[in-house]
Parts: sequence; C-alpha cells; structure tokens
Amino acid sequence: MQFVTSHYGGQDFSLVQALRNSIKSTCGTGAKLEILRPDDVNALDRFRGKIQALRDRVVAGEDGEELLLLDADTFVLRNPAEVFGDAEFDIAHCPRPGRFPTNTGVVFVRVNDRTRRFVDAWMAYTLAWGESEKLVAEAAKQSGGTDQAGFEQALAAETDAVVAELPYLEWNCCQDFEQAATDRVGILHLKGKWHKRLLKGQDTDLPAWVLDAWARFKPGKRWDEILRRLPGPQTDRPPVMAEVGVWRGACSSNVLSRHATVRMYLVDTWRAPEPGSSYADSGDQLAALNQENFDDALERTKRATRSHGARCVIVRQPSLRAAKMIRPGLDLVFIDADHSYEGCQADIEAWRGLVRDGGWLGGHDIDHEQFPKWNVGQAVREFVEREGCRLELGDDHTWFVRITK
Ligand SMILES: C[S@@+](CC[C@H](N)C(=O)[O-])C[C@H]1O[C@@H](n2cnc3c(N)ncnc32)[C@H](O)[C@@H]1O
Repeated sequence: MQFVTSHYGGQDFSLVQALRNSIKSTCGTGAKLEILRPDDVNALDRFRGKIQALRDRVVAGEDGEELLLLDADTFVLRNPAEVFGDAEFDIAHCPRPGRFPTNTGVVFVRVNDRTRRFVDAWMAYTLAWGESEKLVAEAAKQSGGTDQAGFEQALAAETDAVVAELPYLEWNCCQDFEQAATDRVGILHLKGKWHKRLLKGQDTDLPAWVLDAWARFKPGKRWDEILRRLPGPQTDRPPVMAEVGVWRGACSSNVLSRHATVRMYLVDTWRAPEPGSSYADSGDQLAALNQENFDDALERTKRATRSHGARCVIVRQPSLRAAKMIRPGLDLVFIDADHSYEGCQADIEAWRGLVRDGGWLGGHDIDHEQFPKWNVGQAVREFVEREGCRLELGDDHTWFVRITK
C-alpha cells in the first residue's frame, strides 16, 4: 500500500511532516508517503491542481497497486492496510451523516481501468465546477468544495467501479470526535478550523485523545533537532556550538533556555547584503530588508539571549571570517545563513573542520518547497556524497551529518 498526499502550498508544510511522522510511527519506518506537488494552483479553485495531481497519479499507477489518497491534515493512527486486506473494492470512501456527507480527504483506490475511468470523471466534474466563481461558490455550498461536488457526481454517474463505504469514525474521523471509539480510529482528520488553531498554539475544545495524537506527531522545531544531538547538561564538559545565521535569535534563545549548560557562538553579520551578492540574489526575503531591520534584529537577539550571560557570545562577522576566529572542537555547528548553493557550500567547507570527531554539522532550510530558488539541498548532498557520510533529515527542514575524523 502506498500513501499519497498532495501539498499545494496553501497549507503549512508542517502538516505534511506530521502526517509522515504518524505513518512511520504506526506502519513502520519503511512506510513511505508520496508527496504530489500540483503545479496548477488556480486562484479561483484551489482544488483544481490537487485533483489533477491525484488523477494523474492513479492513471499512471500499476494495475493492482493499492493507493491511499490522504489530505495533508490527516494522521494515521492504525494501519490502513487492513482495509485493503478485508474487502474487494475499487474505490472506498467514508460518507457520514450530516450536511456534507462526502469527504475526499481519505480515498482508498485499487488501480485498474475502472478506477482510471472513475478518477478521469472525478477530475472532469471538478474542473467543470471550477469554471466560474459562481459555480465554485455553489459547489462549496452544496458539497463543501468543487472536489467533493465532482466526486459525488462521479459516483452518481454510471461508473463500473466497485465502490465501498467505510465507517467514517474509523477511517476518516473528521468531526464527532467524542463519539469515536478511540482505539478504533485509523485515520484522524483535523480539518482547517482545528489545525489552524493548533499550528498557532491556540486552545481548542478538542478531546484529550485528539490533542495527544497532535502532540505525538506534530513536527518539532529546529531547536528540538539541535537539542536532540547535543550532549546533555550532565556531561563533565559543557557542550559548545555555533549558530551561523542568527537573525533575531529565535533558535539561539530556545536552545539556551532548554539546555542548562550549552555555550553558543552566535555568528551573523547583521548587515543588509551587498547588491549582487549570492545572499542578496538567493530569494531570501530577509536579504531584501534594509540596515534598520538588521539593527533591530541584532537588538532583539541581545534581548532574547541576555539572561544567559557568558553562555553566549555574539560574533558580528561574516561566516567565513568567523570560522577562522573560533577554536575548533565544537560539538555542533548549525548553518542557517546564505541559502544559495554557493553560500551554503562555502559555509559547509569553512565550518566542517571546526566540528570535533563525533560532533554534528547541520543546518536549516533544506528542500524548502516554498522557496525553490534556495539550494541548500544540492550543496549538502554533494558534500555527503563526497565524504561518504550519512545524511539525516529532521523536522523543520533541518539536515545533519555526523563528522568523523
Ligand atoms: C534565516 S536567518 C537565520 C535564522 C535563525 N537561524 C533562526 O533559526 O531563527 C539568516 C541570517 O543569516 C545571516 N547571514 C546571511 N549571510 C551571512 C554570512 N555570509 N555571514 C554571516 N551571516 C550571514 C543574515 O544576516 C540573517 O540574519
């Protein structure tokens, strides 16, 4: 069985990471989530690109392939392979009583010619609903969205696909959480109104078992990934690390306040970049700001880290110069400065030698889908290949490599 979701930029990518975490935790580390990236994100109808991408995936699938099409705001709590094992069907979905009975957030598909014809029809109807603002509004009122209106029409049309209906509280639990038998829920679906609040850390009236699932699977932040790799505060020597690219000190202050003894070098120019430099052209929004903004960021860093006294040292220097000023033997270096290929490659080369044997070289913003111009991934993967080391990808677009000497 293959898990498939589509991420079309509208939602926070951390939802996709949370879904991936839940799949690995429930179905084992071998279970993979395929992420489709629709390129036609039509402003009029945001479902258009998603349904096209799902349709293309099903049509291109191999006969007999078992696909589970999931919205990004779902969590897998019980292995859905049993659904495919239990019943003969081509398409399975989870209708529920109420205003919008159809929800296309969870659709099980066995690939064959019947399902190929079904997804063709689903896409055609969805695209037709998306043709005018009036139709989009009508589909939203009638079915909760053009994709659902299109799905309902494809079901009602003469389809030769065998369609199964699954209990929605088990396989697409998207409301009525209080009524669900919590140990039977296979897929939890936290639609917009809930995941938006949870992502902002706001309170909700969700029951404890739902909040617990969220807490288990929501992706960590970059400082969680750093802290996981730093020696603990009980070790005889306090760990020492450098953060290269600090901005307002959000990451630094979180590391310092969550680790009682770590010492940090905070390296940043806090200078608006020279026009034409790799940083200025990297597509980074920060690089377009003026000196006043950078002065403000430095002040905020000082305020955010002041209470940690001598445990942190501000090094206001360009990365490559700072690397020559700091004593080697660091437990961890975290690179988060110029995300262009040239910038990141130069930082990796400058800082790798400062990491002690068994320490970590890592950084932020690898494979960031919202910023395709950044090229951290290429610089990191070339380094990993050349050195023959293992790349670890963490939450919040982080990467880490253990340095051995
Ligand atoms: C993405 S921000 C850092 C965010 C921070 N690590 C965090 O997690 O909150 C990038 C920072 O890198 C700094 N920077 C960019 N190029 C640099 C270079 N060559 N040397 C030093 N700092 C640099 C910028 O001034 C900016 O403050």
